[in-house]
Amino acid sequence: MPNHIFKESYPGSRVDHVGTYSRMLPVSLERMFENALDWEHLPWLHRSSFTAISCEDAGPWGWRASVVNARGQTSLLELRLDTRQRRWVTRTLDGQGVGAEIWTYVIERGPLEIEVVIDFFVPGVSEADLAKVGAAYARVYQTLYDEDVSMMQGRHRLLKQRVLPLKADSPAECLGIRADLSFPLETSFAGRPVIVWAVDGTFHVTAARCPHYGADLVRGTREGLTVTCPWHGYRFNLLSGACSGLTSLLIATRFYAWEEAGKLWIGWAGAEK
Ligand code: FES
Ligand SMILES: [Fe+2]
Repeated sequence: MPNHIFKESYPGSRVDHVGTYSRMLPVSLERMFENALDWEHLPWLHRSSFTAISCEDAGPWGWRASVVNARGQTSLLELRLDTRQRRWVTRTLDGQGVGAEIWTYVIERGPLEIEVVIDFFVPGVSEADLAKVGAAYARVYQTLYDEDVSMMQGRHRLLKQRVLPLKADSPAECLGIRADLSFPLETSFAGRPVIVWAVDGTFHVTAARCPHYGADLVRGTREGLTVTCPWHGYRFNLLSGACSGLTSLLIATRFYAWEEAGKLWIGWAGAEK
């Protein structure tokens, strides 16, 4: 059962209208607007569609950025958000696809249920090709929204979570037989999700969620002591927790893991080792 509807352009529409894509999304309006303004995630979360982005300007109004698509073609995109009208318009101002406009309308159907309706306008398409071009846009948007839903839901879960401070005397916990475990290991300590990383024979433990929007860092990429977040590409040091881009962001690293008698243990600062 498809989770979206694609309608070809209708007679009497604008001459450059190539089709309309719509689908329900299990997210809030707030998360959807946040996602629209979030230009940084394009080459990370949507890496199959974009490979790079360079932002010229951004604010509550929207953003304007030069993006490179998966075929290496560059476009200058501008997204303008109108929260009162519950819509945003993305225009290609220059480069590949110049003149294209994508109008996205959002209808709230419930607290965690919205409908997006997206009209694609592409200049210079012959009448015979309208449906084909529209369907191609719909396929791209299907992928983009599948990827966006996972991020918006993850962020929603994180914002709802209440994380209690760890007690200094939280006892060490055994994670099992070391030889049976593979790394990076997603686990928990004192009820909070953590990751045990094995780097050159040494264990490092960090919080499992990225402090930016809450991505699972285990799905990021690690090189040496640096892990790169899969959603926006921020890089964190596994020892200090520091972020190389935004100095105010830190991942919690005050955990320890060690092997004893063939078993792997985890503890927190102050816990007995
Ligand atoms: S969630 Fe944005 S960089 Fe990790
Ligand atoms: Fe997105």
